[in-house]
Amino acid sequence: MDFVEHLKSSVDIVGVIGEYVHLRRIGTGQRYMGLCPFHAEKTPSFSVHSGHQFYKCFGCSAGGDVIKFVMEMERMSFWEALRHLAERNGIPLPKRNDLADEEAKKRARTLDIHDFAAHYFVRSLTGSAGGEARAYLVRRGVRPESIAEFGLGYAERGGQALVRALEKQGYTGEEMEESGLVLRRTDGSGFFDRFRHRLMFPIHSESGKVIAFGGRALGEGDEPKYLNSPETAVYHKGNVLYNLNLARKEVQQAGFTIVVEGYMDVIGVYSAGIKNVVAPCGTALTQQQVASLRRHAPEIVVNFDPDKAGRSATERSIEVLLNERMQVRVLELPDGVDPDEYILANSAEAYVDLVKNHTQRYFHWLAERARGKFDVRTPEGRVGIFQFLLPQIHRMPDRLDRLEVVNDLAEYLKVEASVVLDEFRKAAAERREVRNLPKPTSPFMTSERQLLRALLENPEAQRELPERLRALGPLTGFVSAHIFETILKLAAEGAALTHSSIEGRLSEADKDLLAKALLDDEEVAETPSIEQARACVQRLENDARRGETADLRTRIKAAERAGDMGLALRLAAELKHGVAGS
Ligand code: CTP
Ligand code: MN
Repeated sequence: MDFVEHLKSSVDIVGVIGEYVHLRRIGTGQRYMGLCPFHAEKTPSFSVHSGHQFYKCFGCSAGGDVIKFVMEMERMSFWEALRHLAERNGIPLPKRNDLADEEAKKRARTLDIHDFAAHYFVRSLTGSAGGEARAYLVRRGVRPESIAEFGLGYAERGGQALVRALEKQGYTGEEMEESGLVLRRTDGSGFFDRFRHRLMFPIHSESGKVIAFGGRALGEGDEPKYLNSPETAVYHKGNVLYNLNLARKEVQQAGFTIVVEGYMDVIGVYSAGIKNVVAPCGTALTQQQVASLRRHAPEIVVNFDPDKAGRSATERSIEVLLNERMQVRVLELPDGVDPDEYILANSAEAYVDLVKNHTQRYFHWLAERARGKFDVRTPEGRVGIFQFLLPQIHRMPDRLDRLEVVNDLAEYLKVEASVVLDEFRKAAAERREVRNLPKPTSPFMTSERQLLRALLENPEAQRELPERLRALGPLTGFVSAHIFETILKLAAEGAALTHSSIEGRLSEADKDLLAKALLDDEEVAETPSIEQARACVQRLENDARRGETADLRTRIKAAERAGDMGLALRLAAELKHGVAGS
């Protein structure tokens, strides 16, 4: 077995994908379902098959094996995904260098540099230069456990500390520059550290690798207050959420994620015992970030700063969240403080209580906001409120939710619900409703699916049936005729009949078809027995014979008509032989 096959058979695909997607097992079978991580959806069309070790989404057609999943999810190259899976499952890797492509090597170097830098900053924080940073952390109430848990560190003042340390490790100037942690002097005379005299927050990928840093200024008047890593080969800030690596388990358990604005807020909330908390890294919440949250839970609590910037960020986020079909609640803290400050000024318990009992449905929050902006007592004000809120109502995918909100809105505006409803209907009429497509019926004949499954899952069938099937010629009556052809070819070559060996040779359309045959297990939950499979082949053979018989009869008649009695007799004998033989 080559390494790739060995790896795939040692790794549990359900476990790997389950770290990113909340999977539910269907019945007692080998099939699991969840919300597709590759496109926005509200009802699951993403399946994982634990037996055949593949995933498939019938919504966006994404699909493949565990390696492909990691490649797409983590944006890794093939080799990186292999290494990632091998490392996490304790599988020793064969010699690598000949396998790794250039780009992957570069990314690996950048990751190594980040890993090294993270440790380096941690050491600096505890070292002699770190006094000021340590005092700052004490002042801000960050406990030693939290400092360790979040890997906080310190970047020294001079601008040469990290450069020197990296040089010692053998990294080239170019590699250091590509990591984003080091800058080249404009006169070309050398390199210097990007982060100087800053408290360092390592930013992790969802799988827990350090991919960037945020650095908070420590000196009075140092600008900017937060300096973040630039975009690099391993860091795209719009795709990353601070703390998702630590939060994702808790998010799945709690069923919702708290989104706060800043690093310190995350640390404060997390240390208060609410671990399902993340923050965007100095950007507005993006669609990709929301998509990565939706994989873990359908609900979000937005808890941004209760200032002007925070409120408009909340508004924008609501839009993005609704577009991604999330359930949204808003927590606005009293007294104009952010989560970090609130917890310090009050207590962890007080904050937990707010999260549990005092979040608002996003619509109510928006309505409050509208009331702050417009005067409900004047007709113009009411029109203003209406115009402010209507687009939000339109974004709500669920009709019943919309109706409820319409009622709420009427109450806010102190008008009849019917007035609001009329307005809403007028606007809605212009909007195209998304209709639910009828459930597609299976494209397969029952025996076709049974045979396919038998050939993939039943070793006896794999030994016995290919020969008989080959004798039947092209199975033109099957939509999956090409798949059968491929299977028979593989069998003739003596290759193993596995989902991945077969899939590797199929067109995209046939890949989809094969996944369907294996996943639509409403009627056939069990692997077909050899008897069932034999019966299927028998039926095919009978059909073929009937076809041949009809064909022979036609040819005999034609021969008689043409006066070719010799041919007619030979064909008649063949017919008799064939019939006798059945
Ligand atoms: N931010 C940034 N650049 C800035 C200011 C803020 O990237 N100049 C980002 C950081 O990710 C920061 C978040 O926006 O964590 C929230 O900003 P702010 O509310 O100012 O940060 P706090 O975490 O409250 O900062 P602190 O409490 O340390 O003053
Ligand atoms: Mn703050």
